[in-house]
Amino acid sequence: MILVTGGAGYIGSHTCVELLNAGHEIVVLDNFANSSRTSLERVRQICRKPFAVVEGDIRDQAVLEKTLKDFGCTAVIHFAGLKAVLDSVKSPLDYYDNNIIGTHRLLRAMRTRGVKRIIFSSSATVYGDPKFLPYTEDHPLNPVNPYGRTKLVVEEMLRDLVASDSTWSVGILRYFNPIGAHESGLIGEDPKGVPNNLLPFVAQVAVGRRDRLNVWGSDYDTPDGTGVRDYIHVVDLAQGHVAALKTIDQAGCFAVNLGTGRGNSVLEVVKAFEQASGKSIPYELRPRRSGDVASCYAATDRAAKYLGGWRAARDIETMCRDHWRWQSQNPKGYDG
Ligand code: NAD
Ligand code: UFG
Repeated sequence: MILVTGGAGYIGSHTCVELLNAGHEIVVLDNFANSSRTSLERVRQICRKPFAVVEGDIRDQAVLEKTLKDFGCTAVIHFAGLKAVLDSVKSPLDYYDNNIIGTHRLLRAMRTRGVKRIIFSSSATVYGDPKFLPYTEDHPLNPVNPYGRTKLVVEEMLRDLVASDSTWSVGILRYFNPIGAHESGLIGEDPKGVPNNLLPFVAQVAVGRRDRLNVWGSDYDTPDGTGVRDYIHVVDLAQGHVAALKTIDQAGCFAVNLGTGRGNSVLEVVKAFEQASGKSIPYELRPRRSGDVASCYAATDRAAKYLGGWRAARDIETMCRDHWRWQSQNPKGYDG
């Protein structure tokens, strides 16, 4: 039995589908701070398999201990946390509380219950400004915002834990830019308020919820001047977690990138989305967004080595097509 914290969220819900499809039993713990219960009903609809849901907060150690015990959990996949870079600059204490103290409580609950296998959602943001590209896992770690620092602190906490007790098994997965949706169009990304990230914004323009996209920066040192990122299909990312579960027992503690190794510019993504949706995406070239880097993409060899040959398989066209299916079938998200 696997405890999935934050399993109702964007990446968590897709990972629940892949876990259930791979024959795992799961229990989801979520406080629904940034998600809807409907996502989990949709997971049931896709997989036609039952699973339990606990409404609870990772900062509540008693709830965590009870859940681990009642369901006989043997591993944890830990997605729960706050993830908006700009919010983290405005409200750093909320981020330190949720992401660091929350994870600390989770690890203490796991230790109490003797559950010592965990996969943690880290981020490419731990690398900070690139000293070289692609980012290998040995690139210096120097996050430039509070959100990224919370991820780095948790990574260090996990490494210290394994150093103190080698019976822990820890997989740290550093995600690049997850986009897309399950091919059914039943689950996908449903951000609250104005989306900060590119794909949800583009999709909302395509579906008529917003007039135009602001392209943040057109004078970067990239082929067309707009920012380049390593977009990875969320289903590939989810399958990376299933692969990581198989690996953690042999590996002690490992950190790997989950990306495709390829970069696409903002304007390339806009074009691919126009083709996938048949809609035009009006945009305006605007000044750079503070804190953005020109390019960011992953070295992928270490993930392939540690995750039993796992590689991201879906291309940018498939990502846009699946993202559009989700957005067009659910124009206002889950509960709109
Ligand atoms: P999300 O917000 O959709 O999912 C996070 C889930 O955790 C939500 O369902 C939310 O309600 C829940 N949650 C938050 N705080 C909680 C708490 N204290 N107790 C219980 N549940 C809580 O985000 P996502 O995009 O699915 O991201 C999942 C994880 O991956 C996060 O840790 C995020 O930092 C990390 N990550 C995301 C991206 C990305 O671009 N989406 C990139 C790198 C890393
Ligand atoms: N962009 C726009 N207009 C928008 C939104 C984004 O032009 O409305 C551009 C950005 O300037 C950037 C690219 O699209 O060049 C991607 O931006 P996102 O906000 O989608 O993604 P980021 O790479 O900035 O950040 C994301 C997550 C972080 C995570 C990071 C890891 O939001 O949490 O990926 O690489 F840390």
